[in-house]
Amino acid sequence: MGGVNTFLPTFGNRPDHIVGRDDVISDFLDGLSQPIGHPNRTSILIGQRGTGKTALLLEFADLASQRDCVVARVTANRLMLNEIIQIIQIEGAKYAAERQFPLKGLSAGAFGFSVGLTFTEETKKNYGFRVKLSLLCDELAKQNKKVLILVDEVQPNSEEMRDLATTYQHLIGEKKDIVIAMAGLPDSISNVLNDNILTFLNRAHKVYLGPLPLGEISLYYAEVFTRFGKAIDSQALAAAVKATRGYPYLLQLMGYYLLGYSKGSDTISMTDVERATASSRQEMIDSVFNTVLKPLSTKDKEFLNALSKDGVTGRMSDIAQRMKVSQPYAQKYRRRLIAAGVISASSRGEVSLTIPYLGEYLRGDF
Ligand SMILES: Nc1ncnc2c1ncn2[C@@H]1O[C@H](COP(=O)(O)OP(=O)(O)OP(=O)(O)O)[C@@H](O)[C@H]1O
Ligand SMILES: [Mg+2]
Repeated sequence: MGGVNTFLPTFGNRPDHIVGRDDVISDFLDGLSQPIGHPNRTSILIGQRGTGKTALLLEFADLASQRDCVVARVTANRLMLNEIIQIIQIEGAKYAAERQFPLKGLSAGAFGFSVGLTFTEETKKNYGFRVKLSLLCDELAKQNKKVLILVDEVQPNSEEMRDLATTYQHLIGEKKDIVIAMAGLPDSISNVLNDNILTFLNRAHKVYLGPLPLGEISLYYAEVFTRFGKAIDSQALAAAVKATRGYPYLLQLMGYYLLGYSKGSDTISMTDVERATASSRQEMIDSVFNTVLKPLSTKDKEFLNALSKDGVTGRMSDIAQRMKVSQPYAQKYRRRLIAAGVISASSRGEVSLTIPYLGEYLRGDF
């Protein structure tokens, strides 16, 4: 091993190894072998930016396809229902093609299909999402395959989300072998769960993605550095782990720079850790803080500056006072910033910054 960097600090990829989410993964896999209707067969991943939602969905897709699942992974959008049908048709085709046709000379497929998983013109024209998905589930069930639907970046109040969820609920009622996992920012998910039509999703298995345990990051770094033939003393390792704050994106950034700066050497020194920390911070500014802050208004930013005076968490009354506005007025910005995933609300009128180091950055000591 060695040479190629194991770490890949970009959003939306599948990391070489998923650190610290063993429980999430085993609950998901458990759901695949549970009877239809089991809560683990409907999972919702809830996490702020960079907490690893997409990484987990990619992992789910891979593990499930090795376990008799035909997987359709989409990012929530207006066309997602069509995409789901098409992906299942394409991914499932190899199984349907194995069918033996008992009647010689007759190339007709099963009801609704012309051949394999291709719908007849009539089915295509006359039926909607629910019937098509149901036909696909039936056809694949004949080959002992389940259908897994993965929806990333769930958006609240969308017609497609309601269609998908109601269809899913109906298909479960009809005992179709179908499993779903979705992921979104906390505010989007809480709006989805409050949607009248989607209340049944409250019974789903909900997973809140918090920071990764530092002990697991430490073990992982130690294992990777050994694999790359690099020694690191415990002090330098501890400093590197601490710099990540358990944030998956920073885990990738720090790891990436540590391997880069120690290139050609068989040790990772404290100097390498310091350089990696500085580069990771610069990268956080460029790819996270700037992206998050750019679409915000001047008042939004005033709110964040007022909050950051207290560190990570502040009281609404103090923030309103510092902004020199009334509390109801400050509430408006509170709501906007929660929806943008920049702050989260705790009980007792407190709000907190959700992104590691954002407080330091806003205070200018980053
Ligand atoms: N458990 C993990 N172990 C190691 N690396 C991870 C883990 N989870 C995520 N990562 C890495 O962290 C980065 C961010 O992850 P990801 O893109 O999945 O976040 P996200 O929650 O989908 O963010 P967004 O809300 O912006 O879509 C990626 O580089 C990814 O490979
Ligand atoms: Mg994502």
